[in-house]
Parts: sequence; C-alpha cells; structure tokens
Amino acid sequence: MATTTCSQKIGVVGYGHLGQFLVERILEDGAAIGLTLAFVWNRNADKLKGSVPDELILRDLSSFATRQCDVIVEVCHPNIVKEFGTQFLSRAHVMVGSPSALSDCDLNQKLRQAAGKSGRTLYIPSGALWGGQDIQRLNDSGGLKGLFIRMSKHPSCFRLTGDVLSDWTEDEGRRVLFSGSVAELCPLAPNNVNTMAAAAVAAGTLGFTGVRGEIVSDTALRDFHVVEVEVTGPGDFSVKTVRRNPASLGAVTGRATYTSFWNSLLVCKGHGGRVYLC
Ligand SMILES: NC(=O)c1ccc[n+]([C@@H]2O[C@H](COP(=O)([O-])OP(=O)(O)OC[C@H]3O[C@@H](n4cnc5c(N)ncnc54)[C@H](O)[C@@H]3O)[C@@H](O)[C@H]2O)c1
Repeated sequence: MATTTCSQKIGVVGYGHLGQFLVERILEDGAAIGLTLAFVWNRNADKLKGSVPDELILRDLSSFATRQCDVIVEVCHPNIVKEFGTQFLSRAHVMVGSPSALSDCDLNQKLRQAAGKSGRTLYIPSGALWGGQDIQRLNDSGGLKGLFIRMSKHPSCFRLTGDVLSDWTEDEGRRVLFSGSVAELCPLAPNNVNTMAAAAVAAGTLGFTGVRGEIVSDTALRDFHVVEVEVTGPGDFSVKTVRRNPASLGAVTGRATYTSFWNSLLVCKGHGGRVYLC
C-alpha cells in the first residue's frame, strides 16, 4: 500500500548566523519531522562547501525556481527581499527574516499583493517579540491604540548605518540613540530593528509610521538584550512586557531568537495569501 508523506522542502537564502543555524537543524532534525532542504544559497558559495551537500547548493539565486520548494526562508538582507520577494511568493510560502524591508511602503504593498495573487503566505517570524500574536489579535479586532518598543543593548551589539555610536566608551552607561517611528528607525538600524518591524506588521492599523520605537545603548548590558513592549487599547487597557534575551557581547541576535526562528519555521504550512506573524 502506498504511504503518503507530507514532507516540506525548505530553501534557505543566506548562510550567516541564522542561515547556518537553520540549515544545521534541518539536516539534523528535519527528517524526523518532515522537513528537508531544497537548496541553500549564499552570495559567497564557497562558504557552503563542506557543510552543505553539493547538490543542495544553489549558485545563482535567480534560478531558485528550478528547485521544488514549499517554503523559502530569507535570512540574508532586506535588499534580497526587495529584489526577490515577489518572485519567491509566486512559487512558495516565504518566511522573511529581515522584515525591516517592509518599512518600504511600496515593497510592503507589492509583497501583500503577490501573496494575495498566489495564495501563498508571507510569514514574519516574531523573533525577539513577546506577545506578537496578542498584538495582532488586538489590531484585527480594531482595539489597538498604541504600540511602543524599546530595545536596549550593549553598544557592541548595534550595527548602525550612521556614526551615531562611533565614540562609545565602556563606562558611559545608558544613551538613547534614537526615538521615533519604526519607519524612521528601520533605515538607521536595519539589523537591529527586526523585532520592531515584526511588531509593526502585527500592528497593521498603526503601521511602520504609527508604531513608536526606541533604541538604547547601555554598557551595563554585557550579558543580555532587553526588549520592552508597551501596548495600549480601548479605555484604560494596557500591557507592558520586559524580555531579557541572553546574548554575548557584540552579538546582534540574542540566543533565544534562534530557537524562536526554528519554531516559527515549523508554523509555515500555509495560511492563505496574506501576511502572517508566526
Ligand atoms: N527577525 C528577527 O528577529 C531577526 C533576528 C536576527 C537577525 N535578523 C535578520 O536576519 C538576517 C540574517 O541575520 P544573521 O544574524 O544571520 O546575519 P549575518 O550577518 O550573520 O548573515 C547575513 C548573511 O547574508 C549575507 N549578506 C549580507 N548582505 C547581503 C546582501 N546585500 N546581499 C546578499 N547577501 C548578503 C552575508 O554575507 C551573510 O552570509 C539579517 O537581515 C538580520 O537583520 C532578524
């Protein structure tokens, strides 16, 4: 008798910290839970040699459609979302690891349209965001009035586009680097605001311009990042959470965020042609 398997093929785009983590987990644990690798792409393919089986290395990203794939995971750079996002969605569900790309209104709209047209889901992993599903539910019910997120890290953990932090010293303590809309913040700190970008997607009625964000450099935070979320709703409704995310000095991504990414990937089974926080 024929048996049916519901194995999912995953394409991984980017082989930095997150990409390597996900590829290793798929190779080690995937078979037992029905996940296999369709391909792995990195702009420098040499980095993949020896770690990724040759036949799974994709050399030219524009030929991704030659590999049968159920979910494409972008863990690379917002530019790749911009260049390939809609094409990916025409072929597979997509989990966007760099959701700060969606702060570009035009791209945001194009991705939503591509998802709607293909019936495939654009997944946004919650990353270090706590309570994202609750924010999404409050948003969808029309009750979300305000959302503020503050991310505090050791200065060595920030990767900023300007030279705002070029002069930090180990004994300076706390310094607010930027406070304003997430839309303004994304271009300044594209690698540090993915959590806020995920929140802005969950809070669609406020959007990137309506969600407020703050990044704080704090030399006391040598072992963890802190993510504070403040939500306001109807009447006097409010929620405040403080997440301490263990992280080494210089690490952009907290350790718990890796596991969070893996758990998000397990959710990507298809939720229709829309954007979905997972
Ligand atoms: N959603 C979240 O919570 C969350 C958490 C951590 C990281 N991220 C984002 O996920 C992505 C990957 O994170 P990471 O920690 O693995 O980063 P990383 O720096 O370790 O790896 C990034 C990889 O992408 C490649 N790359 C960088 N810029 C590129 C470009 N313009 N074109 C093609 N390739 C490029 C690099 O060579 C590297 O292989 C980044 O965009 C990061 O900001 C999101």
